[in-house]
Amino acid sequence: MSSAPFLLTPLDAAHVRAAFNCGSEPLERYLREQVTQDVRRRVAACFVALAEGQRIAGYYTLASASLLLADLPASVGKKLPRYPTVPAVRMGRLAVDQAFKGQGLGGALLAVALDRAVRSEIAAYALMVDAKDEAAAAFYRHHGFIALPDSPFTLFLPLATVEASRKTENSAR
Ligand SMILES: CC(C)(COP(=O)(O)OP(=O)(O)OC[C@H]1O[C@@H](n2cnc3c(N)ncnc32)[C@H](O)[C@@H]1OP(=O)(O)O)[C@@H](O)C(=O)NCCC(=O)NCCS
Repeated sequence: MSSAPFLLTPLDAAHVRAAFNCGSEPLERYLREQVTQDVRRRVAACFVALAEGQRIAGYYTLASASLLLADLPASVGKKLPRYPTVPAVRMGRLAVDQAFKGQGLGGALLAVALDRAVRSEIAAYALMVDAKDEAAAAFYRHHGFIALPDSPFTLFLPLATVEASRKTENSAR
């Protein structure tokens, strides 16, 4: 990541949301107009990376979700209990301001979101995302996410895989 000192923190009323410019109007509008209501109603949690002062350089949201067992690749589903759904955490949105793109911030926010889901005491099988387009889907595939066979823009990453790779990284230190 760039040497810019980002502060990672839950979204707060003091943060400057109006200037956020990620190149995707729905993701900008959501941060400007909708997210505080979603947080208040507990339908989403929002975390931001702050650059200088209270400027938002990137954000992501997390919420509980579920995946239909029948939608998962057969090779994955056959190793899971025969319930109709498996619990998941949905990263509903992830966006980085144009001024900070390509510096590792998006990947860092994704890694922090995965850590948060892994550390939760409430079990979830996977972190799932709904990619808004092919470029976003490619970003997630680059980070190891697997697309649902019949919905290529819905992708998931098993948290046991993340946990195992974090343990390997820690024991190598
Ligand atoms: C997608 C997005 C979050 C990436 O953020 P970023 O800060 O530019 O990405 P990073 O610099 O952290 O890239 C991390 C890694 O992902 C790779 N990557 C970035 N965008 C990619 C893409 N579209 N396809 C494949 N790989 C991609 C980078 O090459 C880098 O690889 P490396 O770690 O092996 O060097 C950002 O471009 C964005 O906000 N886009 C608009 C909103 C959006 O599409 N959100 C996705 C959710 S729908």
